[in-house]
Amino acid sequence: MGNKNPLTVEIGCGTGDYTLNLSKMYPQRNFVGFDVKGSRIWTGAKKALSENITNAVFVIAYAEKTLHLLSDWQISDVWIPFPHPYPRPNSIKKRIVHPRFLQIYKNILAREGRIHLKTDDTSMYEYALKVVKEEGLVLFKSSADLYSDKSLTAEEQILTKYELDHLKERKVIKYLCFGFAHSNNQNSLI
Ligand SMILES: C[S@@+](CC[C@H](N)C(=O)[O-])C[C@H]1O[C@@H](n2cnc3c(N)ncnc32)[C@H](O)[C@@H]1O
Repeated sequence: MGNKNPLTVEIGCGTGDYTLNLSKMYPQRNFVGFDVKGSRIWTGAKKALSENITNAVFVIAYAEKTLHLLSDWQISDVWIPFPHPYPRPNSIKKRIVHPRFLQIYKNILAREGRIHLKTDDTSMYEYALKVVKEEGLVLFKSSADLYSDKSLTAEEQILTKYELDHLKERKVIKYLCFGFAHSNNQNSLI
């Protein structure tokens, strides 16, 4: 992107809805969307090109294997919209908020950086809350019913492809924002 503007990362970005919308909201910041599925990334990347978005890129890769490449950047936010919940007890280690993933996020996040998780899955939401507590992390916000909250930020209201499907099925969207250190900022992007 040819500059060292602050960076936000989207993990499991699918068609890149967070990366694309945030890059338009914040032209002075950079955005990277990671997904393992090339066809989904292709949809987002094509949109970025057609809309002349120059502050967003997409990477086809396992996030956990590539995020360390960004360790020279000050990453302020990591968005994780609607990750697979891996509901079976023997696959909990694959959950994207399992402590083994948190260590990776900690290595790339700025000190007061924030991780944002959106999910329709109650067990995933409760698991993330439990991990935040057990690992002694800082919980900035949690909502078991995001859209019942009257003070939503513009970022929290960005809709992803999966989210639209969940809303059509009348599922309740949950949201968690946490980090590794306290911050005075109400909203980390500002
Ligand atoms: C349920 S979809 C949600 C897609 C998108 N975030 C949305 O809300 O529309 C989960 C996405 O995470 C991607 N994914 C799963 N594990 C990943 C990993 N380790 N690294 C990067 N992407 C991953 C999948 O390929 C899939 O596109």
